[in-house]
Amino acid sequence: MYQSMKGMLAKANAEGYAVMAINAFNLETARGVIKAAEVNAPIIIVLLQDHVMSFFDCDILTKPIVKMAEQSPVPVAINLDHGHDIAHLKRCLHEGFSSVMCDASAYDAEENARITRSVVELAQIYGASVEAEVGNMGCAEGADAHFTDDVMYTDPDVAIDFIKKTGIDALAVSYGSTHGDYPEGYVPTFHFDIVEKIKAATGAALVLHGGSGAGDDNMRRSVEAGINKINVGTDYMIAQREFVARSPAENPGYDYPTLVQDSWKAGIDTIKHYIEISGSTGKAR
Ligand code: 13P
Repeated sequence: MYQSMKGMLAKANAEGYAVMAINAFNLETARGVIKAAEVNAPIIIVLLQDHVMSFFDCDILTKPIVKMAEQSPVPVAINLDHGHDIAHLKRCLHEGFSSVMCDASAYDAEENARITRSVVELAQIYGASVEAEVGNMGCAEGADAHFTDDVMYTDPDVAIDFIKKTGIDALAVSYGSTHGDYPEGYVPTFHFDIVEKIKAATGAALVLHGGSGAGDDNMRRSVEAGINKINVGTDYMIAQREFVARSPAENPGYDYPTLVQDSWKAGIDTIKHYIEISGSTGKAR
């Protein structure tokens, strides 16, 4: 069943759980996300704008993924992740994305709201839903590695006003998580009061980004505080990368097509674990 995030997240919000949103970047990784959810959970495939632009663009990638979603027995949404380029975001909507994230969080609150509102109006034409971000998150890896610090947290008052002004379907909240792979043994501190305050004032569907390695307890408490969508990318990729790295050494006869096929399957248990933590198991209907 192919759906937009709107109804999916409204149900999660009403029933007090979160839907897992897993980063994919090609047909195989998208297939792994759908297969993992066939434990009777709704699921969101998130396609990072930079991946869509660099690998297969939306005019090639979207339709086969939509077809897989339509054939799935569970509700599946496709969400553009961190869409900064509005012309590209529009192309994604045109090709059939059921949801888009408009990430204008680098701008001041007023400009962020103005850009986001224009995307909400655009998405309405396509019957698609919109996620936005107030505050922002750092990235734990790479040359510009920077952990999310308190100046990057979402200001609840700004977020409350933003939700009312823009009419978005979901808001990404920065309250302690960072994108990417945390150092071994590191568990981030989450400031749940930020989520609780926005939830109490708006009742809106709220989103945790940077879910990989955030810790099961932090995730469960996030759902209790009002998070209805949890983004995980890095852990799904790591599970597949480790499989690809070790398998040819363990089995020198591994032929390449089988290795590629088996690698997306190697990430399924990781997603299933997060589905369990999010409380969305059995919530497909
Ligand atoms: P991680 O890669 O840290 O799980 O974050 C995923 C994410 O938030 C995508 O927007």
